[in-house]
Amino acid sequence: MTQAPSNSEAFSLIALGRTDSTNAEARRRAETGAVHGTLLWATEQTAGRGRRGREWVSKPGNFYASLILRPACEARQATQLAFVTALAVGALLEARFGADPRYKWPNDVLVDGRKIAGILAESMMGKGQGVEWIVLGVGINVASHPEDVEYPATSLHGLGSKPVEIAELAQAFGEAFFRCYDSWEKEGFAHVREAWLCRAAGIGKPVRVRLEQETIEGKFEGLDAEGALLLLKEGGADPVRITTGDVFPMSVIGDS
Ligand code: BTN
Repeated sequence: MTQAPSNSEAFSLIALGRTDSTNAEARRRAETGAVHGTLLWATEQTAGRGRRGREWVSKPGNFYASLILRPACEARQATQLAFVTALAVGALLEARFGADPRYKWPNDVLVDGRKIAGILAESMMGKGQGVEWIVLGVGINVASHPEDVEYPATSLHGLGSKPVEIAELAQAFGEAFFRCYDSWEKEGFAHVREAWLCRAAGIGKPVRVRLEQETIEGKFEGLDAEGALLLLKEGGADPVRITTGDVFPMSVIGDS
């Protein structure tokens, strides 16, 4: 079988050492003209950020990276790139560590039912409907994982992996990402959505979804064509479309 092209020219890797947040640094650089394909990685973050304003504890030994893209797409399509990023992380974990990744909506990557990676996408609108830039931040638990978290977590070390060179992982992530990105550009989101759904955690099962103002329960039916979660509430005829929230499969949290 022929090897897929490495895509190593599609991005330029920049090592930051210790920084506040690779996403914050990527945003600063995007605002001052950093080019599409700039990939920043850090050894440690002093103000790592998670989704929905949460902290991302960022000790040395784990993977912290943010990629700056300037895609020629509409702002509403930019959210699709977080799914592309999740697939890239999953492909990387499978190819390099033999893991069997699962995707938890919207953009978490799980191994053995535990969170191993999170993704934070931040973007700036351009003129009209387009995006000026998007920053895709990725944290992978390599050497350690937080214990005191709402959703159980794991790390590559916890899964028995040998020590990992983070610089090498950053290069491999860039390559994996641009393979998935090429497929998104050529074949569109439907293809990405299919691949994501094939390994979706909790699909067809009862889940609890925490929204901004309330928590609702129902069956996780799938994703719509834009990547929104479709939740069928008990007794409901049509699924509810959810665009922001945190999902907890009942199999993980029980009936608490
Ligand atoms: C989440 O699951 O809540 C998303 C976590 C995203 C963490 C990464 S680590 C690299 C990048 N820089 C940040 O400050 N956050 C993202």
